[in-house]
Amino acid sequence: MIDSSPYFVNLAYFVAALLFIMGLRRMSTPKNARSGIWIAGVGMLLAIAATFANPELSANKLLMLLAMAIGGGFSLFHARRVYLARLPQMIALYNGLGGGAAAGVAAVELLRVTEHSTAENILAVLGALIGCIAFTGSMLAWAKLSDRISTTEYFTNRQQVYLGMLVVVLILGLLLAFSQTVHPLMLLLFFIMSLLFGLAMTQPIASEDMPVLISFYNAAAGLAVSFEGFVIGNPTMMVAGSLVFAAGVLLTRLMARSVNRRLSEIMYSGFGLKHRDRHAGERRGHYNEVDSHDAAITMAYAEQVVIVPGYGMAVAQAQHKLQELTQLLEERGVNVRFAIHPVAGRMPGHMNVLLAEAGVAYEKIFDLSEINAEFRKVDVVLVIGANDIVNISARSDEKSRLHGMPILNVDEAGSVIVLKRGEGQGYAGIDNPLLEDAKTRVHLGDARETVQELISAIKSLD
Ligand code: TAP
Repeated sequence: MIDSSPYFVNLAYFVAALLFIMGLRRMSTPKNARSGIWIAGVGMLLAIAATFANPELSANKLLMLLAMAIGGGFSLFHARRVYLARLPQMIALYNGLGGGAAAGVAAVELLRVTEHSTAENILAVLGALIGCIAFTGSMLAWAKLSDRISTTEYFTNRQQVYLGMLVVVLILGLLLAFSQTVHPLMLLLFFIMSLLFGLAMTQPIASEDMPVLISFYNAAAGLAVSFEGFVIGNPTMMVAGSLVFAAGVLLTRLMARSVNRRLSEIMYSGFGLKHRDRHAGERRGHYNEVDSHDAAITMAYAEQVVIVPGYGMAVAQAQHKLQELTQLLEERGVNVRFAIHPVAGRMPGHMNVLLAEAGVAYEKIFDLSEINAEFRKVDVVLVIGANDIVNISARSDEKSRLHGMPILNVDEAGSVIVLKRGEGQGYAGIDNPLLEDAKTRVHLGDARETVQELISAIKSLD
């Protein structure tokens, strides 16, 4: 364990921790999020500089620099190139690496069990187990989300197998923590079993539950980092890990609630609880189409229009066109607002990021809880590339796999115009009765092109 460091190193760690907290605080609103990220980044830079400046650091600084250059270089290159719709996969990958790094620290410390107290060894073992689960679990989540692995296998007696694995891991961990000598083979077995347990836990979980799971593993990686911070006496790791843990737990709860799932239902689905039938409640029917001219007239002569963006808007990158359409409508005296469902798109805040990028004012953007009661007073709702978040079977069809998920009640508005490409369904893979509703008219085509058509049609009205 690193002994108490000189005053300035501890001071730098303290300031870094404050910067993390300030950064996180600012990230809670889209308006301040960018500066929040910068502040947290400066905190991390300060913590790294303090670690290098610590005179008691005995590690090879050249190796540390090399590892940082490889890791930092890769993430910079990767993050710049990643397409926004693939951000959840990227987050899964980076979460997993955080957990893996914590497990790596634990491995080194468990090779020095004799230098630690039993309490520190217990924390090292727990951090290793949680870090390994977060690592392999997140990697598998990444592979499933990127369609590298699509199967979710079940085998008989899996509950017994998983339980057996957990018991073995815990016994090995206890033996390591209370041992007064180093047992490299036992350590190796403990790590292999912990990594396999992470895979076993994640494997039976369905792809649509992956976002919640990724956020859960994010919290787990934070906890592992915080435990290892205690073991090596690094305050920044303790604070940063605890913050990630707390934020991850809150996000996990929020996301699970938004898709109307209990975390236990997701986590233990492979351990016995039944999955919902993927195709329950499915139906295909006739819907009314509308051309761009009629859709434009409906919107241009309305008083209140609400735009509901979904994953398809992100795919089509239609946000800039949407902002142009909004301005045109506002010039005609139409009140235009945006309604955002908490799980619209493929990652938390997906729609907010895209709309902010296009310059849509924050005050025009409303959450589900703020706007749902308003739909009755709205003349026209424009649904653009959204399906599950407006799927009325979630409200009315008990057999639907979305049943119970809160949705945006767009069917309560005067009329609904849906922009979509064709017969595609949403993420949940079920049909949406909203499309067959008498109030709904569908305009087919790629969202960027159809919004452009609406813009041209509204301009031609003058
Ligand atoms: P979805 O239910 O996935 O619906 C997307 C719709 O967009 C489909 O109707 C699709 O129909 C249409 N579309 C696709 N590409 C298009 C394009 N280029 N132009 C026009 N339309 C296009 O999206 P949603 O309503 O946003 O719901 C999100 C779903 O993802 C939820 O089930 C949620 O649980 C899940 N999920 C959310 C997250 C987070 S955290 N946000 C993460 C992972 C999963 P066509 O193919 O016919 O065009």
